[in-house]
Order: sequence, then C-alpha cells, then structure tokens
Amino acid sequence: MTEDNRPKFSTKFGVIAATVGSAVGLGNIWRFPYEAGAHGGGAFLLVNLICVVLIGIPVVCAEFLMGRSSRRNIFGAMSSLAPRGGKWWRLAGFLGVASGTLILSFYAVVAGWTLEYLFQSVTGNLTAAGVRESHTEFSAFTAGWRCVFWTVVLLAINAMVVLRGVQKGIEKASNLMMPLLFVLLIVMAVNSLLLPGADTGLRFLFSPDFSQMNSATILSALGQAFFSLSVGLGTLTVYGSYFPADTRIVRSASIMAGLDTMVAIIAGVIIFPAVFSFGMEPAAGPQLIFEVLPDIFSQMAGGAVWSTLFFLLLLIASLTSTISLTEVGVAFCVERWHMSRPKALAATIGFVTFFGIFCALSFGPLSSLTVSGMTIFDIFDYVTSNIFLPLGGMLVSIFVGWIVDSATVDYELRPAPRFLRGMIVFLLRYLCPLAILAVFINNLLG
Ligand code: PHE
Repeated sequence: MTEDNRPKFSTKFGVIAATVGSAVGLGNIWRFPYEAGAHGGGAFLLVNLICVVLIGIPVVCAEFLMGRSSRRNIFGAMSSLAPRGGKWWRLAGFLGVASGTLILSFYAVVAGWTLEYLFQSVTGNLTAAGVRESHTEFSAFTAGWRCVFWTVVLLAINAMVVLRGVQKGIEKASNLMMPLLFVLLIVMAVNSLLLPGADTGLRFLFSPDFSQMNSATILSALGQAFFSLSVGLGTLTVYGSYFPADTRIVRSASIMAGLDTMVAIIAGVIIFPAVFSFGMEPAAGPQLIFEVLPDIFSQMAGGAVWSTLFFLLLLIASLTSTISLTEVGVAFCVERWHMSRPKALAATIGFVTFFGIFCALSFGPLSSLTVSGMTIFDIFDYVTSNIFLPLGGMLVSIFVGWIVDSATVDYELRPAPRFLRGMIVFLLRYLCPLAILAVFINNLLG
C-alpha cells in the first residue's frame, strides 16, 4: 500500500483518542492497582514514573516514527526501514505480532469478565451478594464456561469495530468512548475521596515505602510501564502508520503517556480509598477488582449504580485496547499475506479465540495444568508482560537508535526542538536498551 491510499486518522483529536484508547485499559485500572498494592504503593508508583519518562516515552516515539515513515505494520516497518531488507529484524517484527496475539488472548478473557460484572451490576445481583460471597462467586464464574461465552462476546464486539476500518471503526469508536471514560473516572474518583478514611488509601498510594523495593519491584514497574503504554509489539507502530503527515510525534507520545499515567493514578485514587475505608486488603492480586470491589460496592450507598459505572468504565477501557491489539494482527495479515480486511480479521480473531479459550479455562477445568505453579493464563500474562514486551521494547529502541537512517529519525521527530530530538535518540541508543537489559539480568540472577 502506498502512502496515498493508506487510511489515516482524520483529526488531531482522533490521533489522541485512538492512541490513549490503546494505552488506557485493564493495565491502568486492573493491573496497576494490584501491582502497586503488591510492591509497596508509592515506591512502585515512583519507579513506574521514572520508567515511563526515561524509557517509555522514547520507545513510544520510536514506534510512532517507525509506523509513520514506513506506512506499514511492525513487520513491514522493520523490513523496509532496515538496510538490505532487514532479514533478522523482520523476525523481531514477527515477535511483536505474535506477542500481540498472545496478549489479546488473555486480555480478552479479563475484558470478558468485565462484561459479566457489568451484566450482574445492571441486574443488581452483584451488589445483592453481600460480604465475602463475591469471592465464591468470582471463583465459580471463572471456573465455568460462562466466562468463555463472555470472552467470545467481547471479541465479537471488537471485531465489529475493527471491520469498519481505521476512520469509521477505530477512530470513531475511540472518539466516542474516550471522553465518556474520563467523565466516569472523575465521577468515581470524587465518590471515593468522599468516603470516610479515604486519606489512609491515599497515603498508601502516594507515600513510598522503599523497604519493599527490590529488583522485582523494578522489573514489575518497567513491565507495567511497557504494558500500560502498549509498547514493544507494534500496536503503536500500526497506529503511527495511520498518522497524518503533520502529527507531532513527540508531543503525541508525551500526551499519550501523560494521560495514561494520569488514568492509572486516578484508578488508584478510586480503588485504594475504598479498599481502606471498608477495611479490605490492598495486596489482593489480580482478583482485587473482581472480588474486593464487589464486596465494597455491596456495602456502599447506591452500590448498584457505582458498580455499574465502574464496570462500564473498565469495559470501555478494555475495548479500545483490544481494538488496537486486533489491528496489529489484521494489518500484518493484510500487508504480508494480501488478505482482505474481513479475512484478516477472521484469521486474527480465530487465532485469538483458540488461545483465549485455554486462558479462560485455566481458572476452572484447566486449573491443574501448571508449569512451576503458573496456569496457562498466568504464563501468558507473565511471559508477554515481563519478557516479550520489554524484549520488544529493547529491539525497537536498538532498531530506531542504531539501524534506521538517522536523518529519517530526525525528520520524523520534527518539529520537536533539536535538544529534545537529540535526547530521545540518546535515550534510545543507550539508556533504553541497557536499562532493560540490566533489569532482565538482575531478575535472572535474583
Ligand atoms: N496498554 C493496554 C492496557 O493498559 C494493554 C495493551 C498492551 C494494549 C499492549 C495494546 C498493546 O491495558
């Protein structure tokens, strides 16, 4: 496809809505609070912020510019931007596409849970459950085939949007959903702040406890930054390939990272005051949102309304992210294998549904199928977030820092001031790959 007939986002707002939509998702509202809860609250937040600014933003810029200058998906971008067709670099691109599909497989399962919880909230069942039954209900729900059903429903909604293409599907859906998401976030945060004892939750979130900090905290904070910013697997490359020529890459990357981090912090502000106010455990792990929050909603005044709003928020956040993940596979199939968009979509969704079912069943029928204590779901989550994404991020930074023609990089980063462009290239060349490597090695030895 040439530059001219490739679809593009039609407005500046569309660019921001789509990229922030990809970034803001379960990673902010589901993953960030339990990771922070498990790794010393504020200490985790601080390390996460450093990772976002020094490593995240440069890699986001790198992905955007790879997409825009090549007008291709990550596989095609790595082949066309590397000298001599980038035989080896294409493999890195392929790793990106593969990890996108794997992430989507477990991500769609959790996003499917939000559909069930939204449904239960609207019908009033969720908040009628009463204290401590939420735990049993969550286990019963995730152990059964019902959660497979919701995974499939979620993927179907997702497919309907992606089928309509870049402007009428992705951009339009993001333009509608992102403003609603911010309104919901603010309303819910105000409600949490008004709860008695909210300050204990805020102190937990914001005061760093450095005694909890070790190499695992740093790896998790980096993994979280990558996961949350959607970097390392080509999502942002494919979105970058739809940027109009006048989109300012550094500015867009900074706005995206800023809003993404803000949403994670607001999610913390919604969740921790409520957790402490109702005397619950902050380090409840991946179940924090699905077990602890329903208990809280069932004791809160107007709980059914709050739980409906909360799970609607979570659904919107996860949909805009699954859309971007699906587009990675779709763009790859269209460009590499010349499939039509509907066929490429069917292939991607078919693949994801297959793996998704295994992930969904790992809470029930397949729960005994484990490797060193991890279920299939845990393996997908761990391997993609802690290995594939950082590895992908490292390859992207080396690629743009060292391999892509530096005049192209500089041109794409304009009109950012010269100092900033130089700084980004410096970080991509040295700090990003070395920091990611150091965290890896440290974790392997530790
Ligand atoms: N950034 C998304 C989130 O925070 C997840 C995601 C990861 C989406 C990688 C696309 C690519 O939920």
